[in-house]
Order: sequence, then structure tokens, then C-alpha cells
Amino acid sequence: MIDNGTLVLFGAKGNLARVKLIPGLFHLDDCGQLPRKMKIFSVGRQEMSHEAWVAEIKDMLDKKFKGNYDQATFERFIKRNIYHCNLPDDPDAFKKMAVKLNNEEEFTDNLAFFLSVRPSDFALIVDQLADEGLLTEKNGSFRRVLIEKPFGTNYESAVELQKSIEKHLREDQIYRIDHYLGKSALQNILITRFANSIFEPVWNNQFIDHIQITNHETLGVGDRTTFYDATGALRDMIQSHLLQMLALTTMEAPKSFSPGDIRDAKINLLESIQPIPMNDFDHHAFRAQYSSGKIEGETVKGYLDELEDQNSVTETYAAIKLFINNQRWRGIPIYLRTAKRLHEGGTYISIKFKDNNPILENAGSNWMVMSIQPKETTHFEIQTKIPGLNDFDFRVSNLEANNRVAGDESIDAYETLMLDLMAGNQSRFLHINEVKAQWKLVDPIIETWMKDKTQPVQYIAGSSDPVESKIIFENESQFWRKSIHG
Ligand SMILES: NC(=O)c1ccc[n+]([C@@H]2O[C@H](COP(=O)([O-])OP(=O)(O)OC[C@H]3O[C@@H](n4cnc5c(N)ncnc54)[C@H](OP(=O)(O)O)[C@@H]3O)[C@@H](O)[C@H]2O)c1
Repeated sequence: MIDNGTLVLFGAKGNLARVKLIPGLFHLDDCGQLPRKMKIFSVGRQEMSHEAWVAEIKDMLDKKFKGNYDQATFERFIKRNIYHCNLPDDPDAFKKMAVKLNNEEEFTDNLAFFLSVRPSDFALIVDQLADEGLLTEKNGSFRRVLIEKPFGTNYESAVELQKSIEKHLREDQIYRIDHYLGKSALQNILITRFANSIFEPVWNNQFIDHIQITNHETLGVGDRTTFYDATGALRDMIQSHLLQMLALTTMEAPKSFSPGDIRDAKINLLESIQPIPMNDFDHHAFRAQYSSGKIEGETVKGYLDELEDQNSVTETYAAIKLFINNQRWRGIPIYLRTAKRLHEGGTYISIKFKDNNPILENAGSNWMVMSIQPKETTHFEIQTKIPGLNDFDFRVSNLEANNRVAGDESIDAYETLMLDLMAGNQSRFLHINEVKAQWKLVDPIIETWMKDKTQPVQYIAGSSDPVESKIIFENESQFWRKSIHG
């Protein structure tokens, strides 16, 4: 059971809080997951009466649950909720907040601050909280701070942010988010690997040919053009989500399943990935942009048309090849790719086993695919005999395990992470050394792409991976899987 305490939600009127966090907290309350006395102290920058805040919460829930929620839970949820206005031009704003939070009759000493604010505000808010003594733990109470994504925009800015917040917080008080880690399907990677003894003997460079980690979307950049153009696919998806998937797929077995041991195993793995060789850059990193095309029968604009800037070189497709410098994985390419406006959306890890069958030389390949979304499945491709007179005719048979079945609990990633924050479980949050290792890997690629103003390859919206991306494959037998099923 998680501790009673107060979740102090900065940015309560922002997009993430409205769409995910507040409805998520309500859902947790509805499932009986929030301790009876837990409070939610929502901090916004607009003045607002309690009644107006209740009406806003109702509006958020109506949008999310289409008005279909339990009235008794609503009443209980509202009792937990307090809105506090933190006026931007009030020099005493944080002092006033501290006075309220220090009222022992209203709140316990346990405070978890969720900074759902723009990244440029993280350091300043931590300073302001510290100035009011709100980060000081006393008499065994906790003070924790959750920092939203992204933690920095490159290695240097991540280190700078870290230096700023570590003046006031220990590592075990800092919860850096990568919300993919809150997905049950990602945690399932560890269960698949370590709760099934059949995989460990083949989980290495003797048996595996290569690994592909994919995150494709059919969506374009929508109304996030300014954000996206300054960010790009590599920074948006690969820097954290895909590298975390890689770490879970390839890390050594942790000493135990304690949060510390899991993070240590991931850190070791991430730090043993080789930097991209700059003298062979084009064989390790590829970028492209979508042009106009059709998605589900509808014509959609190209990236440059959405942007109204024909000179942008920001990638909407990124594929990179990495090698891990350890005994288990030496020499095995790991391909990471992500794209917008591809033929289909999906997040999955594909493992291609080596074709080294000494008896039936022309036997086809074995693949294992762990799918994260939209379906949560584990898929295998094995060779089986075609029934009939010919003894040695075979074909691919697909075995698919559904990892989610009717009746299973459905908890959103952010909900899981908020419970972890209150419970003090850091295993699904990033350690600073993970963040640093991830930026070290992607920074040289981003810098090279930023300097190179040649127009990236264009791929038609709704198509599959651009053929030019094959340049990063180690040999001609390797190819992108088009979907979970082939
Ligand atoms: N939205 C998503 O789906 C999503 C997904 C992944 C990550 N994130 C990350 O989550 C964070 C929030 O995203 P968002 O889309 O919700 O941003 P947003 O819509 O801009 O909301 C941020 C909110 O924080 C408020 N704020 C800033 N300083 C504050 C302070 N001192 N006290 C109280 N409120 C303060 C802002 O108020 P003003 O408007 O008055 O400045 C604004 O309402 C960002 O770091 C983002 O990168 C968001």
C-alpha cells in the first residue's frame, strides 16, 4: 500500500494534467488504489474558486469518460482536491503555498511534487520549492519531485539541469519520467526474459542475428509543428523510449528485482553501447521526411507543407544502428527506427535468430516479436512441415500469445507512475546516469544532422520504410519487418 501523502500537481491547468493526470487520478480512486487520506493539491497560475475548479475537473472527466463515471467516487475525489493559484507576478506565491502545505491539520509531511510544466520551468520551480523549505524531509517524511520529459535537450543541458536540482535533492528524491516505462507491456519484457528459462541460453550473439526496435505512427505532427521541428524523431522517440526498450531487451539479469538493481543493470547496458563511428556515419544513421500521401484513404499533407518552411531538415523518420560492447552482444546490430505517417502504427521489438540450421540448410528464419502497442502480444515464427507426402516441405507457422486478455486490469502508464511516485518506487523512472548515457549516444547524430542542410530523403505518407534506409543494414539478408506479422 502506498503512503498517505499529498500529490502537489504543478501545471494542473496544462494539457497533460487535463487529458491524462487528473482523469488518471480519478480512475485510480475509482479502482480503490488511492489511500483514503491522500490529497491532491493542484497548482495553476490562474485565480479560480474551489467551485470553478470542481467544474473544471468535471469537464475533464466528462470528456475522458463521456459522462460515464460513478458519482460517489466523484464526491470522494473532489474532497481530496484543493486548487492553489500560483500567480506568476506574485513574489510571495511560493511562500503562500508553503503556508498552506505546512498546515499540519490539512496535510501530512509527505509531499510529492509532480512538475507537469514546460521543461524551461523545472529548475526554477525546484529552486523556489527549496527556498521555502518544501524539499526538506523531517522526521522520516518524504519529499519527492517528479520531472517530466524531456530531461534536457542534449547532454550538456541535462547535466546543467541536474546540477541545478541536485543542490536541493538527493537522487532518491528525483523521479525522471519516461512514461513508456509505466506501460505494463514494457515491464513484460523483463518477465518474458527472466521468468522463462527457455530464453536465456539463446539470448546472445551466438543465436541472435539482429534486433529491431520499432515505433511507427500513422499520425503526422498535427498542431505540434513548432515543437516537433525543434525536436525531430530521434530526440522525441529514440533518445529515451526506444533506448529504454533496448536496455530492457538486452540488459544482463539484475541481481534482484529491486528498483536499484534493475536500474543498475540498465545503466550498465546503456553505458556499454558503442558511440556511432563518425567515419562511417551514413551506415549507422538515416533520416527522412514524409511527403504528401494517403493515410487510411485520406490525402494528407507532407511535413514541409504542414510546416510552411521548405528548408527544414528535421527528420520525421529516423533509423540508427547500434552495437553493444559486451560479451553477450558483441557484433550484433541493433536497429532502432521511428517514424510518423507510416503505413501502420505499432511499437514492437523484433528478434531475428540466426539461420544456422546444419541439417535443413534452406530452412527459413525464426523471429520473435514482443509487441507493446497497439496489441500486447508475443509472436513467434517457426518452421513447420506442410502436411502431405513430401517429408521436407515446410512453411512458416505463426504462434501468437495474447498478453492481455478480457478482464485484465487496464491502468494507464501515467497512473502507474503516479502510484510509484507516492509509493517511492523508482524502478520505472530514469536514473541520471541513464539520461546521460542516452544523450551521449544521440547527441553526435543530432549535431551531424543539424549541420547537414541537404534535404532529407522524402517518403510518401502511408508508405513503409523508405528503401534508402536499408543503407544501415549490416548485410543483404537483413530487412525491416513491415509489421508484427511479417
Ligand atoms: N501533453 C502531453 O501529452 C505530454 C506528453 C509527454 C510529455 N509532456 C511534458 O509534460 C509537461 C507538461 O506538458 P503540457 O503539454 O501539459 O504543457 P502545457 O499545456 O504548456 O502546461 C504547462 C502548465 O504549467 C503551468 N505552469 C508553469 N509554471 C507554473 C508554476 N510555477 N506554477 C503552476 N503552474 C505553472 C503553465 O501555466 P501558464 O500557461 O500560465 O504558463 C501551464 O498551464 C512538459 O514538460 C511536456 O514536455 C507532455
